[in-house]
Amino acid sequence: MLDDGNAHLESTKQSHLSEIIGQSPIMVRLQGQVARLLSRQIVGGRLPPILLEGETGTGKGLMARALHRCSTRYAAPFIDVDCAAIPETLLEAELFGYERGAFTDARQTKPGLFELAERGTIFLDEIGLLPRSLQAKLLKVVEDQRVRRLGGTRSQLVDAWVITATNEDLAVATRGGLFREDLYHRLATVTLRMPPLRERGDDIILLAERFLARISAQYGVPTRLLSADAKAALLSHSWPGNVRELLNLIERVVLLWDERIITADRLDLSPSPQLNGGASLVTPPHEIPTRLRRFGRIVDRKRLVEVLGEAGWNLSLAAGQLAVPRNTLRYWMVKLEIHPPGEAAPSARVAQPAIRLPMGNP
Ligand SMILES: Nc1ncnc2c1ncn2[C@@H]1O[C@H](COP(=O)(O)OP(=O)(O)OP(=O)(O)O)[C@@H](O)[C@H]1O
Ligand SMILES: [Mg+2]
Repeated sequence: MLDDGNAHLESTKQSHLSEIIGQSPIMVRLQGQVARLLSRQIVGGRLPPILLEGETGTGKGLMARALHRCSTRYAAPFIDVDCAAIPETLLEAELFGYERGAFTDARQTKPGLFELAERGTIFLDEIGLLPRSLQAKLLKVVEDQRVRRLGGTRSQLVDAWVITATNEDLAVATRGGLFREDLYHRLATVTLRMPPLRERGDDIILLAERFLARISAQYGVPTRLLSADAKAALLSHSWPGNVRELLNLIERVVLLWDERIITADRLDLSPSPQLNGGASLVTPPHEIPTRLRRFGRIVDRKRLVEVLGEAGWNLSLAAGQLAVPRNTLRYWMVKLEIHPPGEAAPSARVAQPAIRLPMGNP
């Protein structure tokens, strides 16, 4: 017979995992992996570290939350930490806590995020950007399940499920010396790869239709439908921003247009020579673009070159400075034709000739 914990799990697992929409073979395989993993857990028991890999916008954050809610830890906290967003000097104190007097401003003892995640889950996003100085400390916590606060003399046991996410290839970062190999192997005990949207076939239409229904309801307008040519345009787009890009596009279309049926030209997925402000985005072949507009953000080429120069052309460092994933930075570099002095144009997973920037109002 199921006890209360298990009964809850069984009833909620389906609903939380079904938030991750997808029926393509690659997503069904992923759902199967997740279901098998979750079926191994016992109430109060430990779960192996999980590494979520995938390009930006593929649903790593969504998956991390769903895993927590479907686990035996659902009633305890889910602590979400963006390693790229917190300055290195603060990150150590945030993660591991500190004792009073540990440093000048430490007027009170403060528990770290690992302690706050007790019996629950700590989600370390953008783990590839975790400074090397903290990687050794994290390895110790993951291996020994013990943390020692800054300025503390004793370590204490912590019981937090560690889920990490990255949109760069950590194995490559490991070979390049940017990420400790021992930590990588520990965190990647179970690796789940969130596939890019372009590998999910008809899921693109399934997602678009679900988003149309959800967003139409949110704005109180009749549910919009996709024409055949709109579906074809969605299927042939390369989606560098993945599910997030699709979601933003659908929201924009629902807001901007009143027609019930959405046609391909309303999606505006074809290349367009003009920005809204009139500045040219797609330039003649030999003219280097100076600015890029991405989802409402203006990316300035000159500024990017400056940041990269200051970071010694270290992409991880520069991405950290700009608070964007490395892949995004690579994408910007490709679009703005920026490459390190003396090197050929950079290659990027997202840098395919088929990529088109969504134009129109972000
Ligand atoms: N399979 C899916 N079904 C429904 N919604 C999804 C799916 N995948 C992603 N989303 C939605 O797309 C958006 C982007 O997902 P999410 O933030 O989890 O991506 P991410 O991989 O963490 O991106 P980043 O690397 O930029 O942090 C979110 O609004 C999320 O809810
Ligand atoms: Mg995320």
